[in-house]
Amino acid sequence: MSPQPASSQVSAAGSGQGLRSASELAVSLSDASLSYGARELWSGLDLDIRRGEFFAVLGPNGSGKTSLLKVLLGLEKLTSGSVQVAGEPVRRGSRNIGYIPQQQPFPPETPLRARDLVGLGLDGHRWGIRLRDAAHHRHVDSLLEAVGASSYANAPVGTLSGGEQQRLRAAQALATNPDVLLCDEPLLSLDLHHQQAVSSLINAQCHEANSAVIFVTHEINPIIDYVDRVLYLANGRFRVGTPEEVMTSSVLSELYGSTVEVLRHNGRIIVVGLPDATPHHHHEEI
Ligand SMILES: Nc1ncnc2c1ncn2[C@@H]1O[C@H](COP(=O)(O)OP(=O)(O)O)[C@@H](O)[C@H]1O
Ligand SMILES: [Mg+2]
Repeated sequence: MSPQPASSQVSAAGSGQGLRSASELAVSLSDASLSYGARELWSGLDLDIRRGEFFAVLGPNGSGKTSLLKVLLGLEKLTSGSVQVAGEPVRRGSRNIGYIPQQQPFPPETPLRARDLVGLGLDGHRWGIRLRDAAHHRHVDSLLEAVGASSYANAPVGTLSGGEQQRLRAAQALATNPDVLLCDEPLLSLDLHHQQAVSSLINAQCHEANSAVIFVTHEINPIIDYVDRVLYLANGRFRVGTPEEVMTSSVLSELYGSTVEVLRHNGRIIVVGLPDATPHHHHEEI
């Protein structure tokens, strides 16, 4: 059987289900492309992501995963094609979107405590009118507890480890109960226990609050039980589908243009033979 073209798509709506209503569609990209100068990251991307869907974005460093999230945040413009979030053209600063940025440490002197950072998720849009009542404090406390950060709630954020800061960013992004949650490698530098805590919290936002989750990761295994579909980007090519459809030897070999083997063991996916210039599957410790 000859493989399908790398850019072939599996429609989110599927066939025979008819059009989904705009309110159910969280993200819609149509014939989208993004280039920086002469360098094209991806093109011809058609993608509908519905509310309640856990959507993973995988691919080597530099394949354009973060840039895709920036397009959805209105921080980067498509070179061509169109994008809608929650049925509307993207705009910056939407409270409907939660964002866990790719890890970047806070400077040591940052004048915020852990609980202040999480609280900004609740009232950061209302500078000056800080209604810090008991309900606000209870909400912040419950968010801190959910990510296992209660013990350092009053510590200055700049003194915390990368993993501790990352858990606060997750709590902050969840604070507004967003319809769309964009997560850029949120598990980086977390130990296994906290990887599980944070990914299950994000999964709860997806399935209990019916949010769309777009989860960029270099490791699918920590979220393999949650993922509905995957976008795998590599070398300007991509494939969209369920993990079973995309995470195969033939699809990844085609995307990378070299022989890659996908093995499955105890429900985990092991990818062997990624090109050397693809450091994303090595764990980056901070
Ligand atoms: N604003 C920008 N201007 C020019 N090049 C950029 C810009 N942002 C990202 N790039 C380049 O685009 C490529 C993809 O970046 P990025 O989306 O961060 O990839 P990923 O998150 O998959 O590692 C990288 O080579 C990066 O250097
Ligand atoms: Mg990135």
